Amino acid sequence: MSDIIAYKWQFTIEKEQLDQLDFLVEDLMASMDVAFDDDRPEQADVSLFFEATDDMQNQKETCMRIAQQLNQSAEVVFEPVYAENWQAKAYEDMPPIEVGAFYVYQNPEVEKPTDKICIHIPAQMAFGTGSHATTEGCLKLFQELVKTGAPLHKVMDMGAGTAILSIAASLFVENLDVYAVDIDPDAIVIALENAQKHKVSLKAAAGDGFKTPLCVQNAPYDLIFANILKNPLLMMKDDLYDQLQAGGYAIISGFDETQQQEVLDAYQNLGFSCITTVTKDAWVAALLRK
Ligand SMILES: C[S@@+](CC[C@H](N)C(=O)[O-])C[C@H]1O[C@@H](n2cnc3c(N)ncnc32)[C@H](O)[C@@H]1O
Repeated sequence: MSDIIAYKWQFTIEKEQLDQLDFLVEDLMASMDVAFDDDRPEQADVSLFFEATDDMQNQKETCMRIAQQLNQSAEVVFEPVYAENWQAKAYEDMPPIEVGAFYVYQNPEVEKPTDKICIHIPAQMAFGTGSHATTEGCLKLFQELVKTGAPLHKVMDMGAGTAILSIAASLFVENLDVYAVDIDPDAIVIALENAQKHKVSLKAAAGDGFKTPLCVQNAPYDLIFANILKNPLLMMKDDLYDQLQAGGYAIISGFDETQQQEVLDAYQNLGFSCITTVTKDAWVAALLRK
């Protein structure tokens, strides 16, 4: 039997409660995965992944409290995540994706195309499985932006997770100066490992948003990626605007169709124009210009 690497707590809420959920999980030391099922279009299946520690009872109570605040009859289902299962499930949840010039894969056994920029992001505890529609949207918009000939030299990847966007950007545009920040120190370790594996030079630091010294010290940026969630995106919007070069671009994602209007209005009120959006599995990504 392989090691348990995480505890997963799963419950179902209404899709329109995702905003409330963001607030409730904000301070938890947990990774979240939200999945949608076409047969239940009004609902969202939420999985919270915690470290496998003795704190199991505490985790259970926290998840029950959150679930029941949103849905009184919510059932919270527990599942230990075994190293083996995690990997197998990650391969299943995230088959290789092709987004324009990029081919992103988790399973090292897959046959790789020779005419694509191949990016290997193994199954890890940083953001990856499940919600990749947002990542895909960012990768798509980034390539569209580069095709316009926009001058890109310095990029910030806010909420970098596995650093997939940093790596993709560095492999697509030569001599980019790329910086990455994530609130989760473990994600930064993984991000740096992934960057090194792809021979990408990445400067990365753990920190909370744009106040992180690495972020402040290297501003302004020509492009900022922020694939986070609706609430952090709204909280960060002023700093994000300030740290962009005049005429610079932002690719934001992590919000769904029901949240799109609110997020885009907030950014447009600051002075951003929205160039285009892409939507997949109800998740939206937007390309903005300052
Ligand atoms: C949806 S994932 C995106 C990962 C990756 N950039 C991608 O596109 O696949 C969001 C990431 O934002 C990080 N995050 C959440 N709040 C943050 C904050 N206040 N400051 C920095 N990172 C944050 C999370 O730890 C998580 O790794």
